[in-house]
Amino acid sequence: MHTAHLKIAAGLLATIGCSLAAGPAPVVLGSAKTFAILANTRVFNTPTSAITGDVGVASGNISSLSNFGLVRDASQQFSTSAQVNGRVMVGTDDAPTPQLLAGAAVDMQAAFTDAMGRPGADFVGLQNGRIVGGNLVPGIYEWTTAVTIAGDITLTGSSTDTWIFQISGSFNQETNMRITLAGGALPQNVIWAIEGIVTIGANTLLQGNILATGNVEVGANAVHNGCIYALTTVELNMATISCPGGRRGASPADDDIHTGMCRNFNSNSVCDRVCDCRVRKFECFDSRR
Ligand SMILES: *[C@@H]1O[C@H](CO)[C@@H](O)[C@H](O)[C@H]1NC(C)=O
Repeated sequence: MHTAHLKIAAGLLATIGCSLAAGPAPVVLGSAKTFAILANTRVFNTPTSAITGDVGVASGNISSLSNFGLVRDASQQFSTSAQVNGRVMVGTDDAPTPQLLAGAAVDMQAAFTDAMGRPGADFVGLQNGRIVGGNLVPGIYEWTTAVTIAGDITLTGSSTDTWIFQISGSFNQETNMRITLAGGALPQNVIWAIEGIVTIGANTLLQGNILATGNVEVGANAVHNGCIYALTTVELNMATISCPGGRRGASPADDDIHTGMCRNFNSNSVCDRVCDCRVRKFECFDSRR
């Protein structure tokens, strides 16, 4: 009874303080958050790509990454690449990297399961899975089919509004198609959960984090504001991928900068989010979860 009252009180506080956030509670990425690209098996690349955030292959060795021009760090814990603003990590790097990657892989799987399993979709089978355009308001969108982005779409909402797209099939964004944000909406608040293969066409613009069970192929010169979490492999072709929560830089000093960003983000952020970077470095906890 007391617990119930506390929950109600907390709910009221959240409601009173932040009544304007629309859409589902955010999907927590956990320790996967610093990765612009996290794959379980391989990451292929056709240069030159520009990636902001860490790149990791959880069950791979250095041969699991191609054409990154990797330079092994003296610590033996990661490598660097001129194409990556962050660290490149594989399962055979020195400790603590294998544990870190294993934890991130678990968190990636948990985030996928959470996103895919959220009940109460606001929209089911929108445009029969062939999206030819329009404005998509915050909420949960569910398709039991493949989805193709065949026109330009806009996601309009505030900086705290959220979108979860649940796709039980492949996802295909056709060449030149653009997904844009409006009204202050942020890419980290957009989740594409895909049970299948992902094909992002050439010269596209995409917003949001991808969580996919199948291979993710990013076409030539695509620009993606978001991170890619693939339970299998990722293939890049001269891609620009900017992960909002991704690590910048590769030196230990950059860890502190990242912590600062985390604190900063939350001090400037809305009242319904609480960050405690001291508990688990690099991670922001959302008090609504
Ligand atoms: C990486 O792993 C593969 C598959 O286990 C193996 O064939 C290959 O020799 C390894 N490469 C390196 C550099 O360790």
